[in-house]
Amino acid sequence: MVTFPSVTSQHYGIGLAGCGTVGTGVIRALLRNGDLIRQRTGGELTLLVKRVLVRDLTKSRHSDVDHELITTDWHELVNDPDVHIIVELIGGTDLAFDIVSRAIELKKPVVTGNKALLAERGAELFALSKKYNTPIHFEAAVAGGIPIIKSVQEAFVGNRVNSLVGIINGTSNYILQRMSESGLEFATALAEAQALGYAESDPTLDVNGWDAAHKAILLATLAYGFPINPAEIHVLGIEQVKPIDIDFAKQLGYVVKLLAVIREHDNGAIEIRLQPSFVSKNHILASVNGVFNAVAVNGDGVGEALFYGRGAGQDPTASAVVADLVEAARSLSNENGHRGFLPWRDNGRLLAIEETTTAYYVRFDVTDRPGVIAEIARVLAEHLIGISGTHSPVNLENPDAAFVDMVFLLHSCPYGKLQKALAEIFTLDCVNSAPVVFRIEHL
Ligand code: NAP
Ligand code: HSE
Repeated sequence: MVTFPSVTSQHYGIGLAGCGTVGTGVIRALLRNGDLIRQRTGGELTLLVKRVLVRDLTKSRHSDVDHELITTDWHELVNDPDVHIIVELIGGTDLAFDIVSRAIELKKPVVTGNKALLAERGAELFALSKKYNTPIHFEAAVAGGIPIIKSVQEAFVGNRVNSLVGIINGTSNYILQRMSESGLEFATALAEAQALGYAESDPTLDVNGWDAAHKAILLATLAYGFPINPAEIHVLGIEQVKPIDIDFAKQLGYVVKLLAVIREHDNGAIEIRLQPSFVSKNHILASVNGVFNAVAVNGDGVGEALFYGRGAGQDPTASAVVADLVEAARSLSNENGHRGFLPWRDNGRLLAIEETTTAYYVRFDVTDRPGVIAEIARVLAEHLIGISGTHSPVNLENPDAAFVDMVFLLHSCPYGKLQKALAEIFTLDCVNSAPVVFRIEHL
């Protein structure tokens, strides 16, 4: 029989690992709405922070953080008998793994917002969760305050999920919008996102697409039930997006978005990809701006359902953590099994990126001379790739400029075919650097 840590009179002690942006938000949310939560749960459930783990004892903290509870020793936090639930909000995949796995071994439910941890090491942790019948809840790990995890896992349990398409990184969406609307430099827009608490402690993951890829892996694992190897996912971030692409997109009637596309094909293969994409300015995803995220779920029963809300930041993320805390507390008084997620099959097939098919925007940095367009067009034609348009801005100040950006809009073709053509085009004397490719998504 499974035994649970002893709990007195429905008071649940929380061990909070991490008291940065989100951790502080959780403390504040529990202070602000603790009474409301108690009432909403039938007057029975009190959540109390008992221990707080940080790295730096000298750092100044919000006045709502009780300094008496702070420790830098994670064992002290996890082993404390007054701690029944562990909330992991330190980030990273090493210490976070140790904390989460030890908590599960002690049968203490875990709540985490750490998508990197679950995407990289979820298979091990979910196996432990199953072995010890102790849940891992991770609503905050995907799309901040939007309840997308519970929706896919519970509300759509009766649906075959055809696709999940969306914008799931607030920082990059914020940066793209600031670059687009205010003409901000990339670095300035990123600094703003960091100051607002949207970015990861290492913002590389936000801009190189991997934060969103980790989230996409979690969504796909929930929808299709098998562990996904991050090495098999095609990921491009927004580092390659330049103001010129944003301008071209505008002129062509598109908006640039970092898009996650997860889709089940008729043969059962699952397509997962993350990259900056051109979205028609008239599509609803084009108006998802700033830190907002949106995920469009297509299920065989429900049809199209759209989730929209704040995808990052202190209070929205804390909102998701607190909802999981309530769920975790409830699982402690339910010995008949938990409602956390467990993968239900060992293997599934991912669609090779070479097989994925869309239309494309390709920008070439070329030496302008007679015949440049024809040379590029010839190679594309030899690879049977159709051109739907070409575009090159005229430099009115210097009409004889030697180096120009030249854009080709290409009809749909498999990505592998495009890659072969581009590799050949890159060998042409007139092409100066690797072509920049964005997908044109017809959603
Ligand atoms: P953060 O502001 O950088 O806070 C991290 C906290 O963890 C800090 O309190 C830090 O201690 C502590 N910490 C880090 N390494 C530690 C170590 N080795 N030992 C002990 N304590 C350590 O990060 P955050 O933005 O709150 O994000 C936390 C987690 O939530 C991440 O997994 C992130 O991906 C996820 N998340 C964040 C957001 C968001 O909008 N920020 C949204 C969804 C999910 P000090 O305070 O002493 O430095
Ligand atoms: N850095 C993440 C983002 C936080 O910007 O979306 C939310 O997961």
